[in-house]
Amino acid sequence: MMGYIDSLIDARRAGHVSDHIHLGLFAGPALSLEAAQVAMARHHISALDLCDALDVVDVGCGFGGTLRMVDKDFLGKLTGVNIDPRQIALAREGAWRNPVDWLTCDASAFSQGRSGWADRILSLEAMFHFPDPAGFFATCAKALRPGGRLVVSTILLDRSPSAHAVAQGFAPWPVPDMTLDDLTGMATHAGFQVQDIQNLAPLTLPGFDWMCPAPPPEITDHPVIELRRLFTAGQASYPMLVLQAGGKTQK
Ligand SMILES: C[S@@+](CC[C@H](N)C(=O)[O-])C[C@H]1O[C@@H](n2cnc3c(N)ncnc32)[C@H](O)[C@@H]1O
Repeated sequence: MMGYIDSLIDARRAGHVSDHIHLGLFAGPALSLEAAQVAMARHHISALDLCDALDVVDVGCGFGGTLRMVDKDFLGKLTGVNIDPRQIALAREGAWRNPVDWLTCDASAFSQGRSGWADRILSLEAMFHFPDPAGFFATCAKALRPGGRLVVSTILLDRSPSAHAVAQGFAPWPVPDMTLDDLTGMATHAGFQVQDIQNLAPLTLPGFDWMCPAPPPEITDHPVIELRRLFTAGQASYPMLVLQAGGKTQK
């Protein structure tokens, strides 16, 4: 399970990779992968519309790179959620300015027994792993205060042999045939209003030069090459949704 993360954990401990586990966003001039990862996190943080004194949650927080950027720029209360205790252990290392709660649990279980306590929830490139995405949206809706906001990005695949290789290689990928309609349907069913949807896939493409060769004509069993093939052909997408919790007033 999450074999790609096992090797990244070793690389992170050895100081060979950054504290971001995602594809990066290449807008503007050529960037290094690490700078593009910061840009991707920054893009999500601006969609969150943060200010001081907010309760901010990152679900599937990885090594904590995005939460650490929030910690540098804002004063508030932070929560990092991850199913994997090894990543939580790495994320919490070092100094944090703000109080941080670290929760080792599934994405749909981070708010048990509590409601209306969070102002902003982020989940960056993690939801494709979640076994219960509808439960995740319901939990977020319950955790958020009225007017709170959820920013969630994930990867959606078409139905093809390449998609099969991607979902296998990045397992667990429990709902490989999820569509954008499914996503917005689950979000609105949970009570969210969709404010914005952006497909970031084209802006991730330059980063694949660091990660894999160009796709050959025949299909491979290499998940990163096949994801590159799908993104290039427009057969996979990377939606980032900006969702407003019930109630019209924004905090
Ligand atoms: C591609 S990484 C993204 C990490 C982080 N958001 C970042 O941007 O660096 C996917 C993350 O989702 C986490 N994850 C996988 N399944 C999960 C689950 N069921 N509940 C919560 N987190 C999960 C993984 O442990 C991993 O940290």
